[in-house]
Amino acid sequence: MLIRLRVNGEWREADVWPGSSLLFALREELGLPGSKNACEQGECGSCTVWLDGELVCSCLVLAAQAHERTVRTVESLSEGDRLHPVQEAFLEAGAVQCGFCTPGLVVAVTDLLERDPSPDELAVREALAGNLCRCTGYAKIVDAVGLAAERRREGAW
Ligand code: FES
Ligand code: FES
Repeated sequence: MLIRLRVNGEWREADVWPGSSLLFALREELGLPGSKNACEQGECGSCTVWLDGELVCSCLVLAAQAHERTVRTVESLSEGDRLHPVQEAFLEAGAVQCGFCTPGLVVAVTDLLERDPSPDELAVREALAGNLCRCTGYAKIVDAVGLAAERRREGAW
């Protein structure tokens, strides 16, 4: 079936099997491999994208459900070689190890800080509760959120 969706500001079409997930369509049909497939069961958050402005696990959304809707992926955040401040904060804080969870976390952190530039630690941990990381122990991820929040408050983004 043919679907049409607005991805990162651009209208795109994809010919998908009716049972395909949005994650599969993004990665395999639309050339956007930033969102990762780690569990394919809605458990890990590595496939997190915005669908009409709301965070979703794209492995749990049918590609067909995104027809005529707006999707924003982690690829929307950097500009060429210039990383988004949230991505820079992850690098600087050492919050990236294998990096598999990182795209989903970066999307979730960006979403949080766009809504609340001064979240307390509880709010940060709650916002990231759906994003599993097997490597970092989360302390550095929380540090990265603090760094990115500071820069947001300073007007860097
Ligand atoms: S791959 Fe979608 S939640 Fe894990
Ligand atoms: S850095 Fe490896 S899963 Fe998070």
